[in-house]
Amino acid sequence: MFKCIKLEILDNVALITLNHPEKLNALSSVVIEELNLALDKVEGDESARALVIWGGESLFGAGADISEIVNIANSYEAYRFSRKFQSLCDRLENLPLATIAAISGYALGGCLELALACDIRVAGEKAQLGLPEIKLAVLPGGGGTQRLPRLIGTSRAKELILVGDPVSAVEAHRLGLVNRLVEEGRLYEEGMKLARTLASRAPIALAMIKNSINVGAALDMNSALEHEATCFGVLFDSEDRDEGLKAFLEKRKAVFKGR
Ligand code: COA
Repeated sequence: MFKCIKLEILDNVALITLNHPEKLNALSSVVIEELNLALDKVEGDESARALVIWGGESLFGAGADISEIVNIANSYEAYRFSRKFQSLCDRLENLPLATIAAISGYALGGCLELALACDIRVAGEKAQLGLPEIKLAVLPGGGGTQRLPRLIGTSRAKELILVGDPVSAVEAHRLGLVNRLVEEGRLYEEGMKLARTLASRAPIALAMIKNSINVGAALDMNSALEHEATCFGVLFDSEDRDEGLKAFLEKRKAVFKGR
């Protein structure tokens, strides 16, 4: 069904593989369309409780497809391209399940922007991450100029985006851009292990925690705390909340149903 990506659902974990290495997994409009369709499927499948996006053990992706961008004719077309890509990243960021970008090799430009929209980034020790758009006299238009400063601070983000050179996974980890570093060749195993842990958490609690953090980040402190209390309240209508608290008191493992 897909030409440039693969989608599998394995033990409650959806796995999206960017899969057209001949173009270094560049994000063409076909790939963006396919990723949107894959997210439709993930959202429509109740068994999917976590999502991993990766490109295999040696490459994440080299960014937006430059052979397409070169044909953008005017500012309005460029604006629409940017908004379309941003809406994919927004959608990913706000999915009501845990998302992990498992990064190996190059994660550049739009591919890094995709990873920035995930909840957690896990990277192989030899990965290289960067937003090199300035070298093409363009800018990261998939949310990169907004998400990166929010993640690692304005000053560090400016250096990375203005210089445009990639940083090593070790440096990205030090900057807080990558959550976990893993040994070469163990990315799949470690990414899926973390995803299975997240998939075992109470799904409604996980969705409301994400919502509280994501929505709260754009609000002033008082409004954010008010929103947090509303999210807290929502959980008290769930069967899982009953199960989670009782299982602790009864000294047994909770079984969450996502209800
Ligand atoms: N868009 C379209 N095609 C791309 C691409 C991209 N973002 N990145 C790589 N490719 C293509 C190359 O044109 C090349 O195609 P060809 O075999 O038909 O010539 C193929 O993928 C392999 O790339 P190549 O540059 O030969 O590989 P490399 O190992 O020498 O270098 C990179 C790898 C990632 C450093 C280099 O490809 C690169 O800098 N890519 C662009 C990164 C970028 O600027 N991204 C932001 C885009 S806005």
